[in-house]
Amino acid sequence: MELLYEGKAKKIFKTENPEEVICQFKDSLTAFNGEKKEEEEGKGSLNCQITSIIFQALEKEGIPTHFLKELSPTQLLVKRVEIIPIEVVVRNIVAGSLARRLGLPEGEKLPFPIVEFYYKNDDLNDPLINDDHALILGLVENREELEQLREYGKKVNRFLIHFFDKIGLTLVDFKIEFGKDKEGKIILADEITPDSCRLWDKKTGKKMDKDLFRFNLGNIKEAYQEVLNRLKEGQ
Ligand code: TMP
Ligand code: ASP
Repeated sequence: MELLYEGKAKKIFKTENPEEVICQFKDSLTAFNGEKKEEEEGKGSLNCQITSIIFQALEKEGIPTHFLKELSPTQLLVKRVEIIPIEVVVRNIVAGSLARRLGLPEGEKLPFPIVEFYYKNDDLNDPLINDDHALILGLVENREELEQLREYGKKVNRFLIHFFDKIGLTLVDFKIEFGKDKEGKIILADEITPDSCRLWDKKTGKKMDKDLFRFNLGNIKEAYQEVLNRLKEGQ
């Protein structure tokens, strides 16, 4: 298979069909812009299956995604899109960089969900940007596209809060990415996994996401496996 692109957590391969690509989830785990790095055998497979379940549920909810089908435990067939270099972060509870930036206490519930845009650029360490910055950098074509990203972010959030709540998990925050298909339509791409979300167990408050790795708090594989098991049971 011809490799089209390799990122920190995924590889993208060409297929015979120019409109479809294979997204392969890797076992590597990185944090702090790649400064902390480890291999965790089986992580790719867990994240691939978690993304598959969530993207299929979002499709049913009317949110268009790049998902086409599962090819193997670590590979998804997805629509080829051009990724918009904006990380859309949605937050329900204070944690991570929001706590650091604004000096708010971790765990405080926000009065309404916050949507933030980050410029996806490793050399610049993915800086927080506003609408004007996104336009000046040419990351989107117009303000309507930014509004669309914001609306999709909120819609995905509303759905995921409920989806995770049903399986005993609190959705603290998450990051999503979008791409444009060949008609220029904006669709959800990339992944939704415990690498890209903060998930806390409702009963114990235990973290079940990549913060376990970021801050050496425990084994990620057990936690990710537990998230997958609950998602499967909840279906
Ligand atoms: P933050 O609090 O570090 O800004 O992260 C907010 C959310 O975005 C959290 O759920 C983790 C996720 N995230 C990523 O998926 N990739 C990243 O590079 C960063 C910084 C955060
Ligand atoms: N995803 C980023 C990295 O791999 C940062 C993070 O998630 O903490 O370095």
